[in-house]
Amino acid sequence: MDAATDPTGAVATGIVATGLRRSFGRVEAVRDVSLRARAGAVTGLVGPNGSGKTTLFLMLASLLTPDAGTIRIGDVDPIEQPHAARALLGWMPDSLGTWGALSARETLIVTGRLHDLPKDAARARADELLELVELTSLATAPARVLSRGQKQRLGLARALVHDPRVLLLDEPASGLDPAARVELRHLLRRFAAEGRTVLVSSHVLAELEEVID
Ligand SMILES: Nc1ncnc2c1ncn2[C@@H]1O[C@H](COP(=O)(O)OP(=O)(O)OP(=O)(O)O)[C@@H](O)[C@H]1O
Ligand SMILES: [Mg+2]
Repeated sequence: MDAATDPTGAVATGIVATGLRRSFGRVEAVRDVSLRARAGAVTGLVGPNGSGKTTLFLMLASLLTPDAGTIRIGDVDPIEQPHAARALLGWMPDSLGTWGALSARETLIVTGRLHDLPKDAARARADELLELVELTSLATAPARVLSRGQKQRLGLARALVHDPRVLLLDEPASGLDPAARVELRHLLRRFAAEGRTVLVSSHVLAELEEVID
């Protein structure tokens, strides 16, 4: 897309999708959706349960193939270049699947290693992110025993491990208490101010009104 530079001097990486469709059997989960999310802004996607938000995010994240339509993350096509797309984007799922007995910290370290961070860098990054999402005191707890809101925060941290330019956050506020919601809003504004593209979904318009551009 545009070759403008963001406040950090990096080339701006936005999302452009056109004419996306995806059905599951007879259910048309996503029907001809086009959207644009620009770098340096928080873009909101609002719709009721079952309206296709998660299906759309999965396609943008290179995790599900559209039946029709095109997607560009910057100049990367996630359908043709899933590896390049996954390097660019951080995806926070609507609910975090946890890995066996891995602790919160180990979950982040393994994610960092999967993104090719050296061991020491992955450890340092994990600690930094645990601090950011206020899970340091639970660093060694198995991720599967975390509460719903704590899992949400770990999911956000996991999406950030490789310092992605583009964030796809599927219902990030769901399960968070009021204080954590305020903190999340600050974080989203900060990510946008850093020049990242932030696409965030919710089924509650009011939840996004204060944070989206
Ligand atoms: N893997 C699948 N197999 C069959 N149907 C599916 C599948 N994934 C989604 N669907 C259907 O597609 C529609 C859209 O679902 P999706 O999860 O994308 O909605 P959503 O907007 O994210 O909902 P929510 O607000 O509840 O998270 C629903 O009717 C759902 O049942
Ligand atoms: Mg969903």
